[in-house]
Parts: sequence; structure tokens; C-alpha cells
Amino acid sequence: MTLPRFGVWAPVHGSRAAHHDPDEPDDASWARNRALVLEAEALGFDAVLVAQHTVNPYDDARDQLETWTATAALAALTRRIELIAAIKPGLFHPVVLAKMALQIEHISEGRFALNLVNAWNATEFEAAGLPFPEHDARYAYGAEWIGLVSRLMRGERVSHEGRHFRVSGLQLRPADPWRARPRIYLGGESEPARALVAAEGDVWFINGQPLDAVRGLIADAAARPRGDLPPLRFGLSAFVIARETDEEAEAEHARLLALADGDAGLRAASRTRVDPAVVMIRTMAQARAVGTNGGTAAGLVGSYATVAARLAAFHAAGVVLFMLQFQPFEAEMRRCAERVRPLLGARTLPSSAASGIV
Ligand SMILES: Cc1cc2nc3c(=O)[nH]c(=O)nc-3n(C[C@H](O)[C@H](O)[C@H](O)COP(=O)(O)O)c2cc1C
Repeated sequence: MTLPRFGVWAPVHGSRAAHHDPDEPDDASWARNRALVLEAEALGFDAVLVAQHTVNPYDDARDQLETWTATAALAALTRRIELIAAIKPGLFHPVVLAKMALQIEHISEGRFALNLVNAWNATEFEAAGLPFPEHDARYAYGAEWIGLVSRLMRGERVSHEGRHFRVSGLQLRPADPWRARPRIYLGGESEPARALVAAEGDVWFINGQPLDAVRGLIADAAARPRGDLPPLRFGLSAFVIARETDEEAEAEHARLLALADGDAGLRAASRTRVDPAVVMIRTMAQARAVGTNGGTAAGLVGSYATVAARLAAFHAAGVVLFMLQFQPFEAEMRRCAERVRPLLGARTLPSSAASGIV
């Protein structure tokens, strides 16, 4: 069996578990993101996910990194790591976005991917005067949108007359010389999310949750028709707390949960912006966990051996990429690279530019 790949979430809106942590200043700056991604690459991480929010989802007075410009810059600075930029279809016209994606594919020499997310933060759209249709209508828009983006990224000459877009005999050059097109991830759990990833995606990102739930989601998605596409692959978001012993890791989890309780006001404000139809939010409300997108609900809390064993179990269930969060991010990311990853089969760093991409 192939080895799993490991990625990190860029701190685009600062800390992932708690925003008032004496060990980690809440820092969403470009300088911090740049340094963190360069270090992740040097440590052997395979991918970075740059989430997309135009304004900070917790508090619009806080900083927020811009995804696509930052990813283009990271593409020029890095050599091996896969760069995954999130995109909410309602924010960009598909022709403009496909052009940007192909440009970053060129800057990175074949290491670019987009993560299609259909958005939950209604306020972000409404404050900008942008339409925010209801949940399933957003997915219908996203389906037409990604169909166009996918064909344009393949270099096809596209003519299209649909409900939302009209394109006449348009093709983008230069095309992708490394592969058919940049990779397409999708994050979202609802029925239309599953249908869309099966029809158009390469990798489905699942929110962190227990192994049995993840097995069920993978079975559901893997059974869906794929047309000409190769089998769907699976990524898992999770927050890792690893220590010498299970007890030490549990104590650290309790400390972070208590710190996160101090953010109750920020989280309550963020909940007022949420579309209640979003399945992800319902999944996450069920667990007492730290981190976003499931976080510690995936159970990656324990001794180095415990965490490695749970990662191996998820991998055996079909997860090929773990998209990880930590706090304090830099120190815990190093610890994971040095203490947990080698237990799953150490890999020497590939030397050529794009060899980390499989
Ligand atoms: C791995 C992952 C990454 C995500 N990244 C973002 C993001 O960058 N911005 C955002 O607004 N939502 C993000 N989301 C949340 C999706 O927008 C959310 O799940 C969406 O509203 C789909 O809803 P659904 O779960 O009802 O299908 C992400 C979800 C996952 C699983």
C-alpha cells in the first residue's frame, strides 16, 4: 500500500484551536504564513491548504490572508509542496478563476490544486452585495461553475450556454504542460456536495470525525458513478495533539478546550453568520473538539504511537491525504514531523520539483 500524504492548513485567519493563547499570538500575517509553509515544506509535508475567506469569519476587525494572491506567491517560493487554494464559486467568474488557476499551475510547475467550497458565511456575501442563494441552489451554481473551470483548465475551446454562464468559443493559453489540468478537491458533506465531487472532483475532503463515520462517508462517495474520471480519492481534515503518553496528550487537549471556551463570544458571533442548512456545521456541533473542520473529533489525540495507529487506520479506510492543524502551530507541526510521521514509514524528500504530487 502507498504511504499517506500529510498537509497543513495555512493559518489564514490565525489560530485554529483558540484565539487567546499565551503560547501562540493570533497571527494571520503573510510573513507568518510564508515562513510556516516554507518550514512545512522543509519538514517534508506534502501539501498546504489555503482556505478562502474575504473577511475574518470570527471577527471582521481581525486580519485575514487573501488566498489566491498568497498562493501565487507561495508557488514562486516553494519547490515541492502541493498548493491547494480554496475557492467559493460565488466570488469569481469561472473564466477569470480558470485563468488564475492555470497561471499558478505554471508558476508552481505542476503543483497547484483548487478546493471547491460552497460557502456557509452568508454575511460575507451579503455585506459585499453579492448574491447568497440557498444551500442547494449554491451547489447548482457551483456545479455549472466547476464544469466550466474544469474544461477551461484542460485547455479546451469552450462554448457554453447555461443557467448562470454564457461562454462563446473561449480557450485559455498557455495550457497545462504537466498534466491534463490542476487537481480538483471539494470540501462539503451534504448530498449535493457528494454528487458534485463524484461528477467533477479528484479528491473529497472530509471534516474530521470518528473512523466509523469516515468509513461510511467513503463508502457512500466511492459507490457513485464517475464517468471517465479515475476513482475518487479521500482527504481528511484533523487537529493533532501528540505527546509521549496518552495522558499527556489528553491533558493538553483539556487545556486547549478550556482556552477555546474563552472564545465563546467570537464563536457565537460567527454562528450568526452561518447558513443553518450547511451539513458541516451540524456535524461539528456534535463533538466537543478543538480546531476547525472537525478538529480533534477525528481522535488524533494521544501518544505518538496512538496517533500513528489511528492515522494508519484512517489510511487503511481509504484516506490518502491528512490535512492537519496544530496549536501552537509551528512547534506542534515540527513535533508531528519528527515523532509521528516516521512511525508511518519515513520518506526521504524527493529532489525534483513536482515529484511530491501523485
Ligand atoms: C477541508 C475543508 C475545507 C474547507 N474550506 C473552506 C474555506 O476555505 N472557506 C469556506 O468558506 N468554507 C470552507 N469549508 C466549508 C464548506 O464551505 C462547507 O462545508 C460548505 O458550506 C458546504 O456545505 P455542506 O457541508 O452542507 O455541503 C471547508 C470544508 C472542508 C471539509
